[in-house]
Amino acid sequence: MDKLLLIDDEADVQYSFRRIFTSPEIEISTAASGEEGLRLIPKIKPDLVIMDVRMGGITGLETLRRLRQFDAKLLVIMMTAYGTTQTAIEAMKLGAYDYLLKPFDVPRLKQIVEAALKAARDMKRVVSYQPLLESEDYDQGIVGRSEPMQNVFKLVGQLAASDATALVTGESGTGKELVARAIYHHSQRSQQPFLAINCAAIPENLLESELFGHEKGAFTGASVQRIGKFEQCDKGTIFLDEIGDMSLATQTKILRVLQSGEFERVGGNQKVKVDVRVIAATNKPLEQAVAAKEFREDLFYRLNVVRIQMPPLRERRGDIRLLVNYFLKKFAQSQRQPPKAVLPEALAALERHAWPGNVRELENVIQRALVVAKGAAILPGDLPAEFFSGPAGRPVAGSATPPPAPVPGKAAGADEFADLADRLFHWARAQKQLKLIPAMERELIAHALAETKGNQVQAAKLLGITRATLRKRVEKYGIQQELTVK
Ligand SMILES: Nc1ncnc2c1ncn2[C@@H]1O[C@H](COP(=O)(O)OP(=O)(O)OP(=O)(O)O)[C@@H](O)[C@H]1O
Ligand SMILES: [Mg+2]
Repeated sequence: MDKLLLIDDEADVQYSFRRIFTSPEIEISTAASGEEGLRLIPKIKPDLVIMDVRMGGITGLETLRRLRQFDAKLLVIMMTAYGTTQTAIEAMKLGAYDYLLKPFDVPRLKQIVEAALKAARDMKRVVSYQPLLESEDYDQGIVGRSEPMQNVFKLVGQLAASDATALVTGESGTGKELVARAIYHHSQRSQQPFLAINCAAIPENLLESELFGHEKGAFTGASVQRIGKFEQCDKGTIFLDEIGDMSLATQTKILRVLQSGEFERVGGNQKVKVDVRVIAATNKPLEQAVAAKEFREDLFYRLNVVRIQMPPLRERRGDIRLLVNYFLKKFAQSQRQPPKAVLPEALAALERHAWPGNVRELENVIQRALVVAKGAAILPGDLPAEFFSGPAGRPVAGSATPPPAPVPGKAAGADEFADLADRLFHWARAQKQLKLIPAMERELIAHALAETKGNQVQAAKLLGITRATLRKRVEKYGIQQELTVK
């Protein structure tokens, strides 16, 4: 749930906001003056404030100034009428996130609010970089116990303690953004703003102005002065994502800021001084970009002083099981349901997949499996079909031998089995009145029958019981009936 506080003395505006933001995920509070807003903020702790510049009592600008004395991070969007943009620009210098011109364009308003709420979440949801314990209730954690991840944690710790520029590299989906946020959350600047800019998502000619701002008339369309992210984020941390996609001209300016903390707005000659920490990330091999003269060598060396190279998931397969458990728990929490288990066979398939999309792909696969899984556990059939066959329908390497029967205490995979049983037991204990053994037995038999299309001989074999026992249980639980009805 995101909390939005609207500070405006016009009832009309309050009314239209309530009509525009109808999502149950957004809770809107209102204040009719700057003074009231300032009183309410510590109480309701909004994620985002939208405030009019001109109000009775203290102005929006003065309200923002006072707010900044006790909260440097709270995101504020200013609303202003045409012709009063100078005030909006002043507000940006005070660290306002953005401004809107009245009367507002609804799609643009929604877009700005959405972007601001995302930025607020990035600042707020603390990312832990220590190996997570079961009991710990971090909003988000970087999961992993493998050696390559231990090295990542060590570097994150070192970088959090220093104020140095950091470079995070690695394939797509390996957790670069997560690492950048962990550094921020544990740094001395954690009480100051954090702004992320995706350099690849902003057209090249606009990126420079987005980062450094521009003067009025700097280029066609620059009808008013604009304050860039570096100025807005003074004292804070800027995350330059996909820095490998930045143009050479903008790279030059970045290098200068890193060296001297100075820059000029586009089209201006007045020096602006800022104190901003930069964390950069890229999935492009920068060495190659340097060799191809697409990336400035001096900037590369400046960034490369402390570098965190994120290991691909296939090089730390030991972490897969941890990640699977983490995502199961996370999704269960958001659905307010007990976490599901994973059948050993399904886990084995997850552990042998190549994961070209790394952790993001794993997260998606688990999310999808939870949608299709019907019972209390994720079965092999709930995973994408290609996990069980190579491109030509042949079994993938490593899966040629059938998985061993999970006889507790004996077979390979016994650990997984014990782990699964343990989770199942604890889950069942939390379900009042659930009779675990009969419930499990029923579920397993139903699955086996569904898998063998009702063939009792095969189903009994799968389950490791005699056909006679199977028949008795089927009668007892009324399973056959259900199958034929369907
Ligand atoms: N070690 C991890 N533990 C828990 N979650 C992780 C881990 N690594 C990545 N994730 C999750 O995987 C997803 C992708 O991570 P992130 O966005 O940080 O990757 P990225 O390296 O920035 O990818 P891209 O290059 O595609 O931008 C996110 O939802 C993130 O929370
Ligand atoms: Mg990323």
